[in-house]
Amino acid sequence: VKNDRESMLIVNSFAQKYFSSMLHEHMEGKSIGLRYFVERGFREDIIRKFQLGYSLEQRDALYQEATRSGYRKEFLEKTGLIITYDNGGVADRFRGRVIFPVHTLSGKVVAFGGRILKKDEKTAKYVNSPESEIYHKSNELYGIYFAKQAIVKADRCFLVEGYTDVVSMHQAGIENVVASSGTALTPGQIRLIHRFTNNITVLYDGDAAGIKAALRGIDLLLEEGMNIKVVLLPDGEDPDSFARKQNASQFTEFIQRNETDFIRFKTQLLLDDAAGDPIKRSNLISDIVRSVAIIPNEIARSVYIRECSSMLEIDERVLLNEIVKIVRAKN
Ligand code: CTP
Ligand code: MN
Ligand code: MN
Ligand code: MN
Ligand code: MN
Repeated sequence: VKNDRESMLIVNSFAQKYFSSMLHEHMEGKSIGLRYFVERGFREDIIRKFQLGYSLEQRDALYQEATRSGYRKEFLEKTGLIITYDNGGVADRFRGRVIFPVHTLSGKVVAFGGRILKKDEKTAKYVNSPESEIYHKSNELYGIYFAKQAIVKADRCFLVEGYTDVVSMHQAGIENVVASSGTALTPGQIRLIHRFTNNITVLYDGDAAGIKAALRGIDLLLEEGMNIKVVLLPDGEDPDSFARKQNASQFTEFIQRNETDFIRFKTQLLLDDAAGDPIKRSNLISDIVRSVAIIPNEIARSVYIRECSSMLEIDERVLLNEIVKIVRAKN
C-alpha cells in the first residue's frame, strides 16, 4: 500500500536522525561510535555527508524513543528497525553498532547497515535491514545518491564491494563510486548505473575472493553493452584500506595505471591459471568465447576477437566461428 510505504520512509527518516544524533551527541555514541569512525580516519564532513550514525547498546533504545515520539510499532516492524518476539518482547535490530544509512537515487533512506565495533567471531560483522516494501536490495546501490552527478561528469562509475569503500573514496575525492554491498551485481543495479554512464570500473579486493567476485556478474554488464574495466588492488587491500594509505592523487594514479579491459583481464587470468594444461586451456577458450559472444555491438566484438586471438594464440577465424555459433544459437 502506498500509505504504508510513505509511513515506512518517515520512520526511517526519524531513525536516521536518531542514529546520527546518538553518534554526535550521546556520551556512548561519541565515546564508542564517533571514536571508531575517527580512528578509522573518517573525516567529520564525510561522516555528516553520509549521515552515519550509532545505535546504542541498550536493547530497545530506538523503540522507546520512537514510541515516545509517536511512531507506530507497525512501521518500526515493517522497516525491520525492531524485532518482535513470540513472547511479545521487542528489541532493536541495530544495537551497539555504527550505522550506514542506505539512500535511494532520490535520497530517501530505505535501509541501514550496522557494523560491529570490535572483531568478534560470534556475531556477523554487518547487520542489514531486511527486504521490505520499500527496500529491495537487488534494486539499490549503496552510494548512488551521492555519486550520480559525479558519475555523469566523469562518464564512469567505480564499483566497489562495501560501505566503507564508498565513504573512503569520497574522502579521497573520488565521488563516482557505488557499492554492490558484498553481493554480485543484479540486472536492476546494472540498469541503475546504465542510466548515468556506459563505463564501469570494477575495483575489487586483490584476494582470491575479490577476483572471483570481479568475474561474477560481469557477463551481465557485457550483455548490457557496457564497457568494463577492472582494477585489482594489492593483495589484502580493499579500496578503503588502500585509499587511506596514500593521498588522493596517488590513488587516482594507481587506478589509471592498473585499469585493464575486462575481457583482457579475464583472458590473462585464465591463461595464467591454465598454463600448459590442455584441458584447462580449451575450457578457458570456451569461457572467453562465451563472454565475447554476449557483447551486443558487432564492432566491439570483432575488436575483442582480434585481441583474444593474439592473446590465446589461436587463429582469428577459429574464434570467430565459435562466436558466430553461439550468437546464432541465441537468435
Ligand atoms: N557485508 C554484509 N554482511 C556481512 C559482511 C559483508 O552485508 N556479514 C557487505 C557489507 O555491505 C560490506 C560488504 O559486504 O560493506 C563488503 O564486506 P567486507 O569487505 O567484509 O567489509 P568492509 O566493507 O571492508 O568493512 P570493514 O572495512 O569495516 O571490515
Ligand atoms: Mn549504453
Ligand atoms: Mn573482501
Ligand atoms: Mn574494509
Ligand atoms: Mn572490504
